[in-house]
Amino acid sequence: MKRRFSLACASIAAAAVMAGSVSAEDAGHVSIERQSWPFAGFTGQFDKAQLQRGFQVYKEVCSACHGLKRLAFRNLVQPGGPEFPEDSVKELAATWPNQITDGPNDEGKMFERPPLLSDPIRGPYHNDQEARAAQNGALPPDLSLMAKARDVHRESSWWAHPFLMLGDIAKGYSEGGADYLHALLTGYSEPPADFKLTEGQYYNTAFPGHQISMPPPLSEGSVTYQDGTPATVENYSKDVAAFLSWAADPNLDQRKRMGWQVMLFLIVTTLLLYLGKKRIWANIKH
Ligand code: HEC
Repeated sequence: MKRRFSLACASIAAAAVMAGSVSAEDAGHVSIERQSWPFAGFTGQFDKAQLQRGFQVYKEVCSACHGLKRLAFRNLVQPGGPEFPEDSVKELAATWPNQITDGPNDEGKMFERPPLLSDPIRGPYHNDQEARAAQNGALPPDLSLMAKARDVHRESSWWAHPFLMLGDIAKGYSEGGADYLHALLTGYSEPPADFKLTEGQYYNTAFPGHQISMPPPLSEGSVTYQDGTPATVENYSKDVAAFLSWAADPNLDQRKRMGWQVMLFLIVTTLLLYLGKKRIWANIKH
């Protein structure tokens, strides 16, 4: 019995050593700092002003290379989002630089036209090949679902993972995508002396492998906010990350509200069932 116990201990210790060595080898990951987001947790909601600023950053900076094709212009008007006035979005769509290919017309030819409210927010490229050709072979991905497609990896001992996971579940943490985007956009720096950077690539602490083809998109003061928010890279990055989180999950506010309504409904139902049960059984001896 004793021997079996010590064998089990030895195998656990071996697993610990192995897990340790795996995380040490996995040099591509860095621990990404978590930010506080207005839409975090069970009760958080998107901040309309932040989404508006985030869209401004997307429009003035990111849309030069990235599309948002799963988002239509009309989504910018809908409740729970940036809620821009419809007229200003109509005007925005009419002057959007990336036109929609439509057709065929009466002569059987495809033609380009300005987008309508119901059209997707297109990036500058018609297809991936065109994008790669313009970007030195790198593909600037569509950003519509980026906040859902990325997440953060916790750097911790293997045995702590289940506890951290439970903690995240208890807090309702699901902002890994936004945390990653913020870390990526603010993660540019000079490479360490012993790091071999390929030409045309940039060093970024958050990007797996630390070499990215995207040039640093944000610089201090490059976007002028209308609402007095300081024009810093930190703010641009947070605002655009919040905007992309909304773009990837435009019904988040509504879903959370519905969740609370359902909880309230269940509590009231439980109470009624309990009272009903007490009444039905009140006169029966047991
Ligand atoms: C000059 C063009 C250009 C601009 C402007 C630009 N990007 Fe990029 N972006 C790229 C390219 C190219 C890649 C692909 C990088 C790679 O795979 O190495 C990329 C990749 C990305 C990725 C994916 C990273 C990953 O984990 O795979 C995100 C997210 C991103 N960009 C966000 C943004 C945001 C937000 C902005 C605006 C603030 C922006 N980009 C502005 C060219 C650009």
